[in-house]
Amino acid sequence: MAGGYDDRDGKIWLDGQLVEWRDARVHILTHALHYASSVFEGERAYNGKIFKGVEHSHRLRKSAELLDFEIPYAVEEIEAAKYAVLEANGWSDAYVRALAWRGAGPDMGVASLRNPVRMAIAAWEWGSYYGDAKMKGAKLDIAKWKRPSPETAPSQAKAAGLYMICTMSKHAAEAKGCSDAMMFDYRGYVAEATGANMFFVKDGEVHTPLADCFLNGITRQTVIAMLKEKGITVHERHIMPEELEGFEQCWLTGTAAEVTPVGQIGDYNFEVGALTRDVAESYEKLVRA
Ligand SMILES: Cc1ncc(COP(=O)(O)O)c(C=O)c1O
Repeated sequence: MAGGYDDRDGKIWLDGQLVEWRDARVHILTHALHYASSVFEGERAYNGKIFKGVEHSHRLRKSAELLDFEIPYAVEEIEAAKYAVLEANGWSDAYVRALAWRGAGPDMGVASLRNPVRMAIAAWEWGSYYGDAKMKGAKLDIAKWKRPSPETAPSQAKAAGLYMICTMSKHAAEAKGCSDAMMFDYRGYVAEATGANMFFVKDGEVHTPLADCFLNGITRQTVIAMLKEKGITVHERHIMPEELEGFEQCWLTGTAAEVTPVGQIGDYNFEVGALTRDVAESYEKLVRA
């Protein structure tokens, strides 16, 4: 049985080198710990190959740019490092977490231009993110927190600071016996879950919130392309809360979530229908193709 995430056997890549898992440490005066100057990626390797790994590495570098720092490794170097971690730990199916942050240095105020940018890559074996919800449909709470305007936060960055409201929403959801929470955006439109994008089905067509103030997930983009290839109409648009009642099916997409059916959001119920199952199966095949 593995211990806490800081207390395991294995190797972690830290600033260009593989180090012992328990030695992958940072100082308490790390800028990111105080001011959320940190970006990350969640990726999955299937049969030894990281699905859309290059896209994730590009997004990591882009997220850092949006937070005003540059990762000192090129995409190819990040790719090589991710595979080195998988190999060092002997995994072919694993979740891969790459992250970059402003470290400790001469600056301890909000500005931190003189502090070094640091980077790490860890991986671990991680099964279904929502447990048995994959079969029977996840139950979602409705979060009280809203996705912020792009004028308030860099919403296209996968940045640690944007997860503060996600953690609080997920804690509240779990306290009510739910697996996750659906969040509205600052205008009141349906947005996403705390770590996954959302899709709805009505009359054989698919509707998904326009990703104009939250992460346009790589899985989301993959699933939209897959649906279009199947000849299914996909509407990317603003979705009003009162529309939830009329949707027949719902699923979540994300690297960790993969394609997870949703059975309930607040008082609204959805069936785990044929299209949801078909998309989930097609995605599973694609990532292992
Ligand atoms: C808040 C949030 N939205 C959406 C996603 C889905 O993104 P992706 O499909 O790129 O994993 C994630 C997962 O990374 C997420 O954390």
